[in-house]
Amino acid sequence: MAVEKTLVLVKPDGVSRGLVGEVISRFERKGFRIKALKMLRMTREQAEEFYSVHRGKHFYNDLVDFITSGPIVAMILEGDSAIEVVRLMIGATDGRKAAPGTIRGDYSLSIQNNIVHASDSRESYEREVKVIFKPEEIVE
Ligand code: CMP
Repeated sequence: MAVEKTLVLVKPDGVSRGLVGEVISRFERKGFRIKALKMLRMTREQAEEFYSVHRGKHFYNDLVDFITSGPIVAMILEGDSAIEVVRLMIGATDGRKAAPGTIRGDYSLSIQNNIVHASDSRESYEREVKVIFKPEEIVE
């Protein structure tokens, strides 16, 4: 398996509930390296590009409203099979169905307010990272 990077967001619900440290801590303890980290509030334009694959879906407008509703914490994590392993650690999209022990399984009862986002493929990572980080914000 290859060392790769993935993008994680702690969404507005995760930030307002004080779960930033908990989320970062889980990934650090697992062994991932943080290559970039910042707090920001997404503009509508950024959110529409970030979630462009969901454009046209019934939940798209609510999703854009939600992700722009408050500050988020974005990070790039690096490690072996990072995309797959981080997705396993965050759990199923719907917090009610996510397995206990996963971030969503432990902290969410909602499909929209599900605490975190993580890239689901290399293609998604490449698109998402450009929406959030400038190249100079990423350490080597
Ligand atoms: P995320 O991993 O950020 O990717 C897209 C987001 O859309 C997802 O988490 C959910 O927050 C949201 N989402 C996906 N499916 C639905 C749905 N059926 N209803 C509402 N929100 C959804």
